[in-house]
Amino acid sequence: MAKILVTGGAGYIGSHTTHALLAQGHDVQVLDDLSKGYAHNVPEGRLNVVNLHDAAGLARLFAAHQFDAVVHFAAFIAVGESVGEPEKYFRNNVGGSLSLLSAMRKANVRRLVFSSTAAVYGTPESTPIPETAPLRPVNPYGESKLMTETTLRWMDQCSGLRSVILRYFNACGAESQWGIGEEHEPETHLIPLVFRAIRTGKPLTIFGQDYPTSDGTCIRDYVHVSDLAAAHLAALDSLMAGGPSRIFNAGAGHGYSVLQVMQAAERVTGKPVPHTFGPRREGDPAELVADSSKLKQTMAWQPRYATLESMVESAWAFDAKRHGTL
Ligand SMILES: NC(=O)c1ccc[n+]([C@@H]2O[C@H](COP(=O)([O-])OP(=O)(O)OC[C@H]3O[C@@H](n4cnc5c(N)ncnc54)[C@H](O)[C@@H]3O)[C@@H](O)[C@H]2O)c1
Repeated sequence: MAKILVTGGAGYIGSHTTHALLAQGHDVQVLDDLSKGYAHNVPEGRLNVVNLHDAAGLARLFAAHQFDAVVHFAAFIAVGESVGEPEKYFRNNVGGSLSLLSAMRKANVRRLVFSSTAAVYGTPESTPIPETAPLRPVNPYGESKLMTETTLRWMDQCSGLRSVILRYFNACGAESQWGIGEEHEPETHLIPLVFRAIRTGKPLTIFGQDYPTSDGTCIRDYVHVSDLAAAHLAALDSLMAGGPSRIFNAGAGHGYSVLQVMQAAERVTGKPVPHTFGPRREGDPAELVADSSKLKQTMAWQPRYATLESMVESAWAFDAKRHGTL
């Protein structure tokens, strides 16, 4: 059993990972300022409402608990917003991470799992994308994650901080039995938007139908949030066992188009998805699919949710519970 600090643990992926860590017998404290997350996502007695920039608050938290490792999710995540307000993203995602790293150094905590993103690759030359692909973010959000990755590389070299960086592709699904799921505000992710269209009758806008893909819509790699949580558990195990700093893609390795996701939602819910087509969004690559073979081979990680239907089904179970539509 390890003592773990989870930053951003009141958010979507952080709360699933917190529950998974507790289920494995780890002792967990959550740091979250609730700017985007929810207290109801965090099990009783685990939440510390602290902002990453609050050095005194961080110092108190590290002094009160002898953490073995930190899992760092806390960040802003909206690509479009990052284009409008780049400084907000660099301040929170890079500045917040630096503040956390200083607190870790002072408390002599030397293991970190970091949430990075496929956005560090920008528009890839080919897919599936290996970890060795060129890193060329096309928006401030992706750049803010890459800057933190770079910091971690230097921290490994200069101060012995060991980190596992997980570059997630499109997280989806939920564990509705724990009462947690995707509740971003504003919501920018496809599956909850599809459900919203079903619920409200307001058409979902599909951006672009002329991409060089089988049906003309963008293809993405959807990975279940619990499979991502499992990747964090494996990453922590490797760090606790003295493993080195490493970087992994975390995706299911299959691509699904927007229309395929919509059709899966129609099969799962038995309801049509009202939709309309709009122009392409700038900076949206046609296809983003992970080569996750390194994670599978090194960490014996295998996604449990093998089909798009099973992922959409688990997301629907949460969405329907949340909105009382079941
Ligand atoms: N959701 C995805 O598909 C996806 C894909 C790739 C990477 N990621 C990364 O995964 C991480 C988690 O994403 P998510 O979807 O769970 O987002 P989320 O918004 O649900 O969770 C982020 C949490 O961090 C907290 N937070 C933000 N800034 C903070 C600060 N300065 N101090 C304290 N708490 C702060 C928010 O309140 C929120 O609870 C992020 O780092 C994101 O970049 C997510």
